[in-house]
Amino acid sequence: MGSARWLSILWFWRCRERVSSVAAIVVVGAQWGDEAKGKIVDLLAQRADIVVRYGGGSNAGHTVTVGNLVLKLHLVPSGILNPRTLCVISGGVVLDPAVLLREVDELRSYGISTDSVRISQRAHVVLPYHKELDRLEELRRGVGKIGTTMQGVGPAYEDKARRCGIRVMDLVDSDRLRARVTAVLPDKNFLIARLYGGTTLDRDAILEEYTAYGARIRPMVADTDALLHAASTGGQRIVFEGAQGTMLDLDHGTYPYVTSSHPVAGGACLGTGVGPKALQTILGVTKSYTTRVGEGAFPTELLDETGNRIREQGHEYGTTTGRPRRIGWLDTVALRYAARVNGLDCLAATLLDVLTGLPRLRICAAYEIDGERTADLPANGGDLARVQAVYEDLPGWEELISHARRLEDLPAAARDYLERVAELAGVPIALVSVGPQREQTIVLQPEILEGGSPSAARRHAA
Ligand code: IMP
Repeated sequence: MGSARWLSILWFWRCRERVSSVAAIVVVGAQWGDEAKGKIVDLLAQRADIVVRYGGGSNAGHTVTVGNLVLKLHLVPSGILNPRTLCVISGGVVLDPAVLLREVDELRSYGISTDSVRISQRAHVVLPYHKELDRLEELRRGVGKIGTTMQGVGPAYEDKARRCGIRVMDLVDSDRLRARVTAVLPDKNFLIARLYGGTTLDRDAILEEYTAYGARIRPMVADTDALLHAASTGGQRIVFEGAQGTMLDLDHGTYPYVTSSHPVAGGACLGTGVGPKALQTILGVTKSYTTRVGEGAFPTELLDETGNRIREQGHEYGTTTGRPRRIGWLDTVALRYAARVNGLDCLAATLLDVLTGLPRLRICAAYEIDGERTADLPANGGDLARVQAVYEDLPGWEELISHARRLEDLPAAARDYLERVAELAGVPIALVSVGPQREQTIVLQPEILEGGSPSAARRHAA
């Protein structure tokens, strides 16, 4: 064998070694958010060194249930119940310090340590004028409103893009905070009062409140980019926790009815400063049906008794706002799109138990627009409002399934349903969730618990 061949074999093994030393998994919402990512992240955190939230703000509501404890997290990463796991809030997040500190206090009141929380100094801060502008802008939009969570997230990302944002590094330095608020607030007050007819905000009151937040947050602030770089090159296990979902992505979602950040897997790199080559596995989380909160087209929406039944059965009310979620059948056109834009390796199908008792299940397999059938999501968000969902019907099941721990424990109809979802999505299912507790999970790809998956391994070896 020639030396060139030996060299290429050696190179191949070195690459393999590098890939297997990296165990970074991105947990991304494959729908319109609320896919139960919190449960999946908590499960994966059991064997992770770091969980890092890569985007969004307190608009997110991640629920983690362990025994009788039900945590509703908005900013603290869902790895917090594992004391071994570092919980990083990256620079891609917009941080409302009041919400974060409330959450920290609540966790501590349950005896849960928050010593593992690290916050990027680059994260932008949500200030009172962001929330006020979120509210006033929505009011002014009237019927054209987006249906935001009113957490000030959009206006905070706007300021980041306009290069007038205030970052965590400013928040924790009282002189810098004073200078930044003094520079920014007049423009905000002008908008609030003159454009929207609202009441202006008082600089000194903001400074007093936010200086106190800064002092409490200071010990948690770290150079998280450097920390994550060291972890990923040092072979540590990292879970990148997405917030919201693919269809709410600012660039790739159903614009303008989207959030202002990048929930897609690519957002994990933007938000954390970790390069794309460090991401090993991309796990898309999908409900076994669909929900959406806020305005915007929803081709499979159920406005009938079935929708109401799923809403009640699945407790489908917003974690952050309490709003009833809109319910629909599973949309595999949207799921295939999510597979494409995220490069999904596998899926976690959640809330399968909620479908128990429905005599007939429908899966949207394609769309029809003006009589033309298409398997793809229209690029024009407006067209989505005109599509007709094309359904496949499958029989339902009557049996309770929350006790199922293996695929064989599920009724045949539930197995057939999952099989058809995977076929239509073009992505294998790695996890099936049949209840809120960690153990109420069917693990079809055990590698996923270590941050890997067979399809990711094939991709990296290729
Ligand atoms: P914003 O993110 O509050 O600006 O809201 C923009 C849109 O995203 C609205 O339709 C919200 O309902 C939706 N949204 C934001 N965060 C979430 C979430 O965590 N789950 C579901 N929908 C969300």
